[in-house]
Amino acid sequence: MIKKKNYVLNQSLFISATNTNVGKTYAASIFLKKLTKDGFKVGYFKPIETGVIDAPVDGLAMLELTKKLNPDFNVDIDFVVPYQFKLPASPYVAKKDVNIDLEFLVQRKKELEKLCDILIIEGAGGLMVPILKDFFIVDLIKTFNSKAILISPSRLGSINDTLLSQEALKNRDVDFDWYINLFEDKDSFDEVTLPFYKDYFGEVFYLDDIL
Ligand code: GTP
Ligand code: MG
Repeated sequence: MIKKKNYVLNQSLFISATNTNVGKTYAASIFLKKLTKDGFKVGYFKPIETGVIDAPVDGLAMLELTKKLNPDFNVDIDFVVPYQFKLPASPYVAKKDVNIDLEFLVQRKKELEKLCDILIIEGAGGLMVPILKDFFIVDLIKTFNSKAILISPSRLGSINDTLLSQEALKNRDVDFDWYINLFEDKDSFDEVTLPFYKDYFGEVFYLDDIL
């Protein structure tokens, strides 16, 4: 039996991952649905999206879901994804000469929080993805004073990525919960990866068990 974690009112949850393409947006959709089920009015914020050609794909999908779940979240896509860059790269590289204003992002977060009980924030890439030369996604989580949700993949190699990510969070005193997106190497996960996690952590939490 997997224990469910509880989240509280007026909290922001910042979803990050061990890397890009691990399941942050998928996790955001799960959290939005779960928290709605628990009676919270939800909101979504993607401060920076890169690889945007016509429109921010992650942001649009999650904004549509959020509006369905919380009709009070009546904002448009450019408000929810304020920084959009064409190059599919880290924000630091993709932004080129654009200045990313952290104070502006903190203000935007506050404005979005007024429209919901819990704000789900999605990062870009993994925890150590650069936003400014000396400022990484993990630092943005700290600046936002959010609780981090770390998503790990289930493929071979994920133990290393998971432990390194947890080190980064602990080094900065960022409170976090950790979930595995059991998807890739699903059939071999129990034999190849789970034995270590069980011995090291005692228990593990799977994203799909949240709902
Ligand atoms: P970026 O925002 O581009 O960094 O990616 P992301 O971390 O948001 O990943 P996204 O949520 O787009 O999901 C992509 C990954 O999720 C895929 O590589 C798969 O590993 C996994 N995935 C895709 N479909 C499913 C699904 O139906 N269930 C689950 N659990 N995982 C899936
Ligand atoms: Mg995403």
